[in-house]
Amino acid sequence: MTVNSLNLNHIAIIMDGNGRWAKDKGMDRIFGHKEGAKSAKKVIEACSDLNISYLTLYAFSTENWNRPQSEVDSLMSLLSLMLKNEIKELERNNIVFNVVGRVEDLPKSVQNIISDVIDRTKHNTGLVLSLALSYGGRQEIIDAVNKIIVSKKSEIINEEIVKNNLYCPEIPDPDLIIRTAGEHRLSNFLLWQSAYAELFVSKKNWPDFKKKDLMEALKDFENRDRTFGKLTD
Ligand code: IPE
Ligand code: IPE
Ligand code: MG
Repeated sequence: MTVNSLNLNHIAIIMDGNGRWAKDKGMDRIFGHKEGAKSAKKVIEACSDLNISYLTLYAFSTENWNRPQSEVDSLMSLLSLMLKNEIKELERNNIVFNVVGRVEDLPKSVQNIISDVIDRTKHNTGLVLSLALSYGGRQEIIDAVNKIIVSKKSEIINEEIVKNNLYCPEIPDPDLIIRTAGEHRLSNFLLWQSAYAELFVSKKNWPDFKKKDLMEALKDFENRDRTFGKLTD
């Protein structure tokens, strides 16, 4: 199987089960998040090696702000640390770094690191890696509609106008959405863009998700019949 033959431009992943992974080991939830970050690093590397064009990772939802403050703070610190540590690796692997979500809600220090990483990777030409941070699909649609209202460019909206006002209109819709930890739901992820995405659920908790699990998802995708509402021959 070569990825080029798959018609697979964009993989999006709901990285779930860090807490359960840690609990199973009698450890703190944050330990699960740290191990989850290592999994993310490996999956980014694998997608880059496989010549995937776009990878979007759901790292923190708008609803995740409702978790205990100590967990939110730990996640923000871990995010800062990972970005600082990985910038060289992103540069070396020719990866373009991007963020989708309400970035303005993140701590200022995190926003500064994000701008720095975006700036330092913007001339790269390889994998476009988007982190969904303080991201909600409903919020993205609300933000798009408000942008349209404020711009007063149009009173009547259509699909193209909404799409063009989403966070990153230039990124194609995900072809494949993978969710780990066995949950069969989207949890407010890419609601607009997922209209015709193929869904793959892995039983593995995110820290246990390896390249071989990614390849299993790709293999499964290879056998999907994507008809987009039309009929096959
Ligand atoms: C996913 O793991 C990471 C985030 C949502 C930040 P969880 O923290 O949701 O782990 P579980 O679902 O409680 O096991
Ligand atoms: C979705 O996972 C959000 C991320 C992976 C960042 P959650 O664990 O927050 O979602 P629910 O609560 O299972 O729906
Ligand atoms: Mg969860």
